[in-house]
Order: sequence, then C-alpha cells, then structure tokens
Amino acid sequence: MRFIGRVIALGLIAAASIACHAEDGSAAWLRYAPVSAGKYSKLPSRVVVLGRTTIEQNAGAELARGLSAMLGRKFESAKIPSTDLPSNAILIGSYEATGSHDNAIGMSAELDRYSISVSAKEARVVIAGNTPRAELYGVFHLLEEVGAEQAIPASETQTASAAIRWTDEWDNLNGTIERGYAGPSFFFQDGHVREDLHRASEYARLLASVGIDGCNVNNVNADLDLLTSTHLQEYARLAAAFRLWGVRLALSVDLTSPQTVGGLATFDPVDPVVIAWWKQKVDEIYGLIPDFGGFTVKADSEGRLGPSKYGRSPADAANVLARALAPHGGVVLYRGFVYNNHLDWRDPKADRARAGVDNFVKYDGQFDGNVIIQIKEGPIDFQAREPVSPLFAALRHTNVAIEVQASQEYTGQQRHMVWLPSMWKWVLDTDLEADGRHTPVKEIVEGRSFPLADRRPRMGYVSVMNAGMDANWMHHPMAMANLYGFGKLAWNPEIPLERIIDTWTRLTWGNNPQVVETINALQLHSWQVYEGYTGPNGMGTLTNILGYHFGPGIESAERNGWGQWFRGEPDGIGMDRTNDGTGYAQQYPTVLAERYNSLTTCPDELLLFFHHVPYRYRLHSGKTLIQSIYDTHYESAKEASEYVGRWMALKDLIDDERYQQVLELFTFQAGHALVWRDAIDDWFHRISQVDDAKERVGHHAGRFEAEAMTAVGYEAVEVTPWETASGGKAVVCRVANGCSLSSAVTQPEGYYDVAVGYFDTWRGASEYELAVNEKSVGKWRGDKTLPPAQFDAQLDGQTATRFTLHHVLLKSGDTLTLRGVPDLRLELNSVQKEAASPGALDPHVREQRDYREFAPVDYIQIGPDGPLTPQD
Ligand code: GCU
Repeated sequence: MRFIGRVIALGLIAAASIACHAEDGSAAWLRYAPVSAGKYSKLPSRVVVLGRTTIEQNAGAELARGLSAMLGRKFESAKIPSTDLPSNAILIGSYEATGSHDNAIGMSAELDRYSISVSAKEARVVIAGNTPRAELYGVFHLLEEVGAEQAIPASETQTASAAIRWTDEWDNLNGTIERGYAGPSFFFQDGHVREDLHRASEYARLLASVGIDGCNVNNVNADLDLLTSTHLQEYARLAAAFRLWGVRLALSVDLTSPQTVGGLATFDPVDPVVIAWWKQKVDEIYGLIPDFGGFTVKADSEGRLGPSKYGRSPADAANVLARALAPHGGVVLYRGFVYNNHLDWRDPKADRARAGVDNFVKYDGQFDGNVIIQIKEGPIDFQAREPVSPLFAALRHTNVAIEVQASQEYTGQQRHMVWLPSMWKWVLDTDLEADGRHTPVKEIVEGRSFPLADRRPRMGYVSVMNAGMDANWMHHPMAMANLYGFGKLAWNPEIPLERIIDTWTRLTWGNNPQVVETINALQLHSWQVYEGYTGPNGMGTLTNILGYHFGPGIESAERNGWGQWFRGEPDGIGMDRTNDGTGYAQQYPTVLAERYNSLTTCPDELLLFFHHVPYRYRLHSGKTLIQSIYDTHYESAKEASEYVGRWMALKDLIDDERYQQVLELFTFQAGHALVWRDAIDDWFHRISQVDDAKERVGHHAGRFEAEAMTAVGYEAVEVTPWETASGGKAVVCRVANGCSLSSAVTQPEGYYDVAVGYFDTWRGASEYELAVNEKSVGKWRGDKTLPPAQFDAQLDGQTATRFTLHHVLLKSGDTLTLRGVPDLRLELNSVQKEAASPGALDPHVREQRDYREFAPVDYIQIGPDGPLTPQD
C-alpha cells in the first residue's frame, strides 16, 4: 500500500528525520558499521595470511575490510612472512602453520573447528582453523565480536556441532522460486544460470559468515532437464561463486533423470544401465565441480515419481546415487517427506503424520554410509506448531538431518515478523527419551544419541531458505534473523536464543541500547504471537492449504486427501492420534508415547494434535479450550498490533529506508493479525455454539458492516470462506467512476482512529478516500502486493487487509463516507496464462483470471485515537 498523505495516515507528525542515511538491507548483518573503537585499540592493523588457498586469502581480505570499516583505521592484509611468525599482527592459518595447539579427538576432529587466541606479550592475535573454511569462520567470528562491541576473549575454540549445515533453495531454472516470497531467483533466469552471479556470491558470503557450508540451489521438485550437460557447465560457474566462501554447491535431482535426460527406457534404480548412467553423470559433475556437495532427493511424494514405481525401496534408490557419489566425497540427502496425498478422510485410522515412520523404519540400516535421511522437524509440514517427528528416534542405524524452513511458508511469508529459531530451539531441545535415555533431537542429528558403526560425521541441519532478488534477500527486514539464527543453531544448538538475537540485532541495526532492547524483545516473542493469532494448541496453522498458505482458510484442511485434518466438528475438535485413534502417538519412544497418549499429560500446546476434545474441555491452564482460543487470539493480535507503536519509538535511531519498510510491514501485520483473529474466533463461535465469556467475539463496537451501510453503486457479495469477511459479506463496485458507502457517526465529539477492512487483490490498484461530511480526510491505493509472487483474485483470508487513519475528528451526527474507485483496466482481464513452475502443487492458480479489482470493502470501524489500530 502506498500512503498518499502518509503524515495524516500515520497520525504522528514526526520531525524530518535526522542524519540517518538509507540502507537497503543487502548487507544484512555484515554491514561493518562503525563501533566504539576504544576497546579494540590494541588490535594490530597488520593481517597476515599464512595459507595460500583462495579461501584463506579471501578471509584475510574480509578481515581487513571489516575491521577498517568498523574501527575507522586502516587494516591491511599482508603477504606471507618469510620464516618467523610476526609479532604485532593478526595471523590467519592452520593450527600447524600458526603453531597453535589442536587438541581435538575422535569424530569431532573431522568437524570444522577454529581457535582465536590473543597474546598481549607479542601483540598478536591468532586465528587458527583445521580447514581453510574454518579459518574463514574464525575471521567472521572475530568480526562479529567487534561489530557487536563484545570483548574478545583471550582464547576460545569453537567446533561445529555437525558436518551438514546446508540451506535448500527451491529455485527453478525459469527464475521462479517455489514458496519464495522475496522476488525471483538470483541463481537462475529463463532456463539458465544467470550471467551476473555477484549476488549469488554475496549470498554465499552471508552463509559462510554463520558457518553454513552447503547450498542446494534448486527446487526439491526439480526441473526434469536439470542434469543436461549444458546445464552442468553452468552450475560450475555457480559453484565457483560459492567456492571462495567455502560453500559447496548441491543439487536436487529427480529420480526419473535417466529417462528424461538420459533417454533410457527406465529409471528403475537397480537396473544396471540406470546405475551406470548415474555413475557417469556424477563423474561428469565432479569433472566440472570438484567440491560438489551431493544430491537432495524428493521421490514418491506429492506427485514426484520414485522407486515405488518399480517396487523398489528408498534405500535401493538412495544407495545407487550414494555409490556414484561416494568416491568423490558426495552425499545423498534423501527426504523423509514421503506421504500419500490421496488419503481417505473418512477413515478414522488414516493419518498423514504416520507416514515418515511407516515409510522409512523398515529400511533402517539398509542405507549406505553417505546417505542421510532429511527429516522435516514435524510430521506434517512446517506448521506454526507440531510435535517433533518421531522418525528422529526411530532410525537408529541411519544418518539423519533435520529440515527446518526459514522461508515462512505457513508462518506469514515474510509479511508477518516471526522469529523461527524460537521454534527450532524448542524442537532441538525436545527430548525423545528413546530407551528411557536423554536423547534430545539436537543430539540425534549430531549423531551422538545413536552412534553409527561408520563414525564419519555425516549428519546435521538443513534449512529451506528461498532468498530472492529483493535487495534485503527475504523482503522483511526482520526476516534475515531466521537465516542468521539457523546458522548459529546448526553450528551450536546450545547457544541461548537471547544471545543469538542480541548479536543479530546489534550487527543488523546497530548498538544503540534502545534499538537493541526493542528489537530483541519483539523478535524473541514473535513466534508465540503468530501461533497465538493463527492455530494454537497444535491444531495446525489454519491457513488456506489449498491456496498459497498465507491467510486464514480454516476448512480447506478438512475433508480432502491432503491429510492436514484437525477434525473440527460440532462435538469438539482435534485429531485422535491415541491408541483409540490412529495410533500415531505409539510411534514415539514409550515415555513420550504415554505422555502424548494421555489427556492428562499431553501438553496444552500439542493437545489437538493428539486428542479430539469437546470445546468446553478444561486445559491445564484452567481455562476451557474454547475460551482459551478466544483469549489467545485477542491477546496475540493485540500484541502484534502493538509492534507499530513500539517500532515508531525507534524513528531517528535507525536509517529511514529500513525504518519505513518495517513500519509498513508492521502496519500490515497489525491489520492482518486482526483478520486472523476474527476469522478463527468467528469460525469457532459458529461451530462450538459457545459464547465468548468476555463478549468480544461477534460483538464489534464501533464497526459498520459495509453491506449494511448506505451504498451508492456498491453491491453486496458473499465471501468464501465466510469467516474471512466480517459478517461473511463484503461489497464491490463495478462502476468505473466509483461508488460510495456512508453512515452516520454516533460517537461523542473527539479524535478517533478509523479503520477500513478491505481486500487487496493481486495486480489491481483501486483508489479509496475517506471523508467526513464530504471533506476528504485520507486516501490510499489498494496496490499491495502481499505477498508479491502470488496470483490471487479472490476476496478471502489471503487478500483481506486493513487501512487505518489515525487522529480523525468526529462527532455525533457527522457523515462518514468511504469512496472507492475500482481498477477496471482491460489488461487485467486478459492476463496471459502464467507458466507454472515445474512440480508446482497448485498449477491451477496460474490460470488466466480476471484480475480487475472492484474496490472491495468489508467494514469500517471507529476506535480510540492512538497508534494502535482499533481492536474491538
Ligand atoms: C510443502 C510445500 C511444497 C514443497 C513440499 C516439500 O508441501 O508446500 O511447495 O514442495 O513442502 O517440502 O517437498
């Protein structure tokens, strides 16, 4: 939304901003902004790189560049000295070259490790690593300590928790990104690797700075021609852009490639011709990319073909690829996300959550040593909250990695601020209590809980990321904290969340205490806030799962084959996954199975994932379920609305560009959180027939339903699903020069906020104007592209939004009028059919549609004056 007359719209007339220059966010946490240099005055300004690899040379240059910028004096990366180690220098090199002691033993000796030591006597700082990449990590660590104005300890050593620390990018060769919310791909364009890979290289630098060592660049729903020789040559350029930063390139492959690329008659993984094809293909890749990381495989899932076509197992398929990769040191990340999306919802025993264990446990022990089963953190699909996947404890003889999703598919698509490391830490700390032992997920994915005979470390962490061409990578200036936090937890899952967010905030926004305190507090609680106004108690996010997973669309999850059911019925709600139900709870080790199986011990936050309970069921908190749902939605939506005011207090303490971006996004979130609140609460009210004890649900003081106002030209329409519009209805205007709605004000004289609930569909840009007694008080355009990559022409929970005009003088008897002018441009009704990305789950959304926007309005609400959009 562009604010015409922003000053009025935001109500607070701020003095012109002082001094803060614009930043586009592309530097993320590597801004190297000036810090108080005092405590670093003893840092020698000569940087000496002892190793000769390009990574080490690059590390030296990065250190000199970062320290010079932050400390305001010149640091220089010097040539290798002749013999003796120089004094008065920062040395970067291997443990051996720097004469440092490396006391690592056992499996962890193979993991990346660095040590930083400061010797005051020789005026020397030594950064030593067991690999060139680890030396680079040491450099970034030192830079981070300076950037966050932390003391540099006299000596510290850090070892990665696991070998696999990768991001998965779901980019397609045509330049689109599946579940990407920040613009097109910076790897691919029009079927090829981009000519200009500057941004790809900058991205690898960011990954390396938080210890990420691998990047899979393409969609798990892989393009079928991905592995042609012509394309492989292009990936070699990408790999080169990453190499400088110690990031290995990996690819997602489709198991039908022997047919689609190789022209063979079969892709049966155990057919000797197919085996030979994969071997030759892998050799070809390593000829071009010697440090290639390996393959990720999505098979027999969501329409992708797989070994089941030939009656073969995941182990048969994974091992063929693994044996081709093994001589080169590559790995196969075979995804555990295999399930039947044509389940029978009438069958009380059917349960998608069971699929991971049901499909994989029988092959435990049959996978080769360089196969890793990549398991999504929960058994369904990145919901706002799920229990952890029981597959983590069920595979005892197989490498595993955890897959999380920094791209906020179900968690607000980078239009809502949600700091996901809070969720991931909860997952990683969850103790599965296998065999009655302490076996938290973090120890399982590091190979510590169930050590394998082949003790090479090949486990770890993967995050789906989907960064795009938006200057700041993820669209929301707060969203890169998810990548940062992922890298930190993958390196060391023990780091407290408070420390992670504090360092991110300091590096990204500066060290001003008020800025740091505010942003830390906002981020730290943001996951719980989002969960609170969407789907709490483990019921699933409640988004439109048949659309693009953004706004509320509650029943879309029910009564279809996708198996994301929450079984919301008049008698109660929740999936019965106990012994009497689908038996899913039994997939956990005994202690947990019993805890989840019993209503008494099942934690409130997961209750509806495991149990079907009546609405008046009393939670451990003492509240009835239904009252808790109402209260949580009211409280959380209010908390999200308060972000706006808390953010405004930081004006002038940070740069204008990012300040404005966040302000607009928080303003959007404040409105959309209320869309969520009302949709969920109204739906629960209708199905449960239980009133809100606090009389808020269904009672909106100061709200005029658009369909009940005096209309000129506007026509009432039904909205589907009904709960995504106040009263189930909205109005639309099909008259080219506009329509109007008006109503008499009944409030006593004073200043008020006026909020308009409306719908902002894709491509169209209607004009709106509010007037009091025919005098204009504010205007805006409905030209949001939220989220930008989506093609939605519907009035629903995805497009429902809110505009708030603050500080409007009103008195009883005034006439409040909203005038809407639709966007009826002809070209909106003749939009070309969009090419669906390969493997897209919802190709129908790409079909030609009528994108004209009929200035839709849901309601107008008058509330108290202040920065908070009206809540009632
Ligand atoms: C989700 C997501 C898909 C994706 C799939 C996967 O279902 O919506 O776009 O392909 O996960 O992880 O494979």
